[in-house]
Amino acid sequence: QRYPVICIDGPSGAGKGTVTWRLAQALGYQLLDSGALYRIVGLKAFEAGLLGADGCQDIDEQAVLALTQGLDIVFVPNEASGRVDIIVNGDAVGEQVRNETVGGYASKIAVFPKVRQALLTLQQKMASRSGLVADGRDMGTVVFPDADVKVFLTASAKARAERRVTQLLNAGQTADFEAILATIKARDERDENRATAPSKPAKDALLLDSSCLDADSVYAQVKKYCQDKG
Ligand code: C5P
Repeated sequence: QRYPVICIDGPSGAGKGTVTWRLAQALGYQLLDSGALYRIVGLKAFEAGLLGADGCQDIDEQAVLALTQGLDIVFVPNEASGRVDIIVNGDAVGEQVRNETVGGYASKIAVFPKVRQALLTLQQKMASRSGLVADGRDMGTVVFPDADVKVFLTASAKARAERRVTQLLNAGQTADFEAILATIKARDERDENRATAPSKPAKDALLLDSSCLDADSVYAQVKKYCQDKG
């Protein structure tokens, strides 16, 4: 049996997480936070001392692959946070995995074809059990090319950095706009220019720029698009 798949791709901070969560709740579908998979591998690789000082050149791909193959990852929806809790090999992963530092680790290991291939199988399996809303960079292009609905949600780097600053300040943390903007740009650059599964819209994706839209308008537009398609 084939279940419906909705892909929400785009750069970090464009608002994918919120739309994905709301669609999955409204439709009763499973949620695939593919970025979390890359984040976990990135964090584990860092903890294992496998990440180089800056670039990806010196990283031992085979070692990162072995580490990836040893991971059993489960997503559990958490209504209080509006996100999935992540369970790795039976243990809950802390909020730390969501921070920008770990986002940077993720984009370093995300360049490796063998690591992507290992995660691809795991991601496709999720669509064999129920309807799925998948959030990522290559959901519509590589992982689910036959998906029923594809959306590429983007926003200017400045708008995304501003959102991040507001988020941090609301959480009682400090935030340096320029530093955040630079990190966002560096991650975009790595994600868009890697040879394997670069971040880009699928040919048949709806392009939506959320720079001047709030979360409710983005959700309303995506929901309407899903209805029109379905
Ligand atoms: O979406 P999120 O910010 O959690 O993703 C973290 C990183 O994981 C991205 O910057 C990207 O390098 C990588 N990623 C990817 N393919 C995906 C999802 C995330 O390469 N489908």
